[in-house]
Amino acid sequence: MLSTLPRLIGHRGAKESAPENTLASIREAARQGAQWVELDVMLSRDQRPVIIHDETLDRTTSGTGPVPLRDAADLRALDAGTWFDPKFAGEPLPTLEEAIALIVELGLGLNLEIKPYPGQEIATATVAVDTLRPLWPADRPLMFSSFEVPCLEVAQRLWPEIPRGYLIWEEPEDWAAIADRVGAASFNVNHEWQTPDTIARYRATGRPVLTYTVNDSERARILFDWGVSAIFTDAPGRMAAELSGSSV
Ligand code: G3P
Ligand code: MG
Repeated sequence: MLSTLPRLIGHRGAKESAPENTLASIREAARQGAQWVELDVMLSRDQRPVIIHDETLDRTTSGTGPVPLRDAADLRALDAGTWFDPKFAGEPLPTLEEAIALIVELGLGLNLEIKPYPGQEIATATVAVDTLRPLWPADRPLMFSSFEVPCLEVAQRLWPEIPRGYLIWEEPEDWAAIADRVGAASFNVNHEWQTPDTIARYRATGRPVLTYTVNDSERARILFDWGVSAIFTDAPGRMAAELSGSSV
């Protein structure tokens, strides 16, 4: 499935132009020509998968407090658009099911990042996989990823055929052993800490390297030159335009 990996993946949809992790952001990424989007999934109090990045509602919605203190129906009723721009007023905080339906309709690929509230690693991964599985078309590109190794282990056990990206923030000493153990298909790493050597090291394990979050086309060119396969970007359309003419 990673053979269809595009060079540019819309980060949280198209975060530069629309409120992140919303249906509007997914639509905007598709409008800009993105082939894949990356979204973050977390659990509500009633164990439903919802699309949000932060552990709390304060930054990106009209609500306050931790995400897992509210049921999905309550979360769905929040305004996840106004904080970004009043023209997005009323944009809901989507459920994973709603996001999947739109992604399938738009013909996009998906990197679903499993983003558990601390302590909810197993449940979040289990619900994310169980929700996606019956809804996802067999021929559509899909990748799971997580910073949390237990989440990758759940995905590996429940749906081993779907590739898993091992997200790394601070690299643990045993990163290569962890990648082997979870059967990681790729390393998804912070671009700021990469050098030609780090990229070479990851690639020497036989896995492609994806880097987040790159919104500067000069930096993207350098990373691609170093052997990075794909970047997560908040601006898939702008980056594609700025990179056109190069070999990207
Ligand atoms: O999956 C790439 C990127 O989304 C990881 O970091 O914090 O933006 O979810 P974050
Ligand atoms: Mg993410």
